[in-house]
Amino acid sequence: MAGLHKKFAFFGLLKLWMLMPVSSRGPVYTPPNVERVTDQFRRISVSQGYNVFYGGSNVHLTNNGTSADLILDKSSGSGLVSKNRYYYGFFSAAMKLPAGFTSGIVTAFYLSNQDLFPHNHDEIDFELLGHEKRRQWVLQTNLYGNGSVGTGREEKFYLWFDPTQAFHEYSILWNNHHIVFLVDNVPVREVIHNGAISSAYPSKPMSAYVTIWDGSKWATHGGKYPVNYSYAPFATSLRGIEMEGCIRENSAACSKRSVSSLDPVDGQEFAKLSQLQTTGLEWARGKHMFYSYCQDKSRYKVLPPECTTAK
Ligand SMILES: *[C@@H]1O[C@H](CO)[C@@H](O)[C@H](O)[C@H]1NC(C)=O
Ligand SMILES: *[C@@H]1O[C@H](CO)[C@@H](O)[C@H](O)[C@H]1NC(C)=O
Ligand SMILES: *[C@@H]1O[C@H](CO)[C@@H](O)[C@H](O)[C@H]1NC(C)=O
Repeated sequence: MAGLHKKFAFFGLLKLWMLMPVSSRGPVYTPPNVERVTDQFRRISVSQGYNVFYGGSNVHLTNNGTSADLILDKSSGSGLVSKNRYYYGFFSAAMKLPAGFTSGIVTAFYLSNQDLFPHNHDEIDFELLGHEKRRQWVLQTNLYGNGSVGTGREEKFYLWFDPTQAFHEYSILWNNHHIVFLVDNVPVREVIHNGAISSAYPSKPMSAYVTIWDGSKWATHGGKYPVNYSYAPFATSLRGIEMEGCIRENSAACSKRSVSSLDPVDGQEFAKLSQLQTTGLEWARGKHMFYSYCQDKSRYKVLPPECTTAK
């Protein structure tokens, strides 16, 4: 009897656990202390920095344009594109992702110039991938340079917080020295601009985008779990925008003149990671990264050169 009781108690608890939101289940991770990069730049409103990219009726500006909700429903996803193009810069947004059943959904915060350079475009991506039941949102980072679309440079992480419960900051620092992806100011990835990656290093002006869209074909377990619109609408909320860079409509103007004098992230403090940032980077990668293209030998018989070059 006692055994039977225990068994019921166990399944009862299991059931309770399965009904609990993901947030309350996982262990709580506290990241190491790092400098705040995001307080060094001016905050702008969403409407100051961005225009509607697509799905206009699903872009809802809130608080007089300071913030916005980007909606995905059966009719459309939605997106914003920066009013300016930037050649190097700092790009940040605080985002809160849709809660509940979100398989197949992609929220992307990224830089691209595919519209201007369809055959040799550059791109720097944060992609947040929705999940099936009992899993968590996945953070994916990626980049392309000068049309290197044949080589995916993805890395994937589980976040150390529940991104649906509060706003968290996702930031990209891009200059001639390196590209740094930061989450709540903790660097999760650094791409150093060295000889090994030079031909694939993003080196032309880009626009900044924020989008929510249906990635049913690939986003969750390679497409096994598509978007289920009985849970729609899905909303990603956005605020705390920072966007500072060398603004040029004409790519030649930025690259031919000294970028340094125009580039707000060219200072010594942006040239390399600090000791605290390096500690944060190692913590994020050691504890939370679960995929790196540099370790994917079944995909790359010969790993891309930057994977095997000592930094
Ligand atoms: C709303 O935004 C506009 C332009 O961004 C600004 O001029 C105006 O003062 C703002 N209104 C309020 C109530 O903050
Ligand atoms: C970028 O690609 C173009 C055409 O594909 C090529 O001509 C050019 O040399 C490349 N630039 C760099 C920096 O690799
Ligand atoms: C979508 O979710 C609803 C509600 O949970 C469920 O009844 C339906 O079977 C789901 N559809 C698919 C295609 O999984």
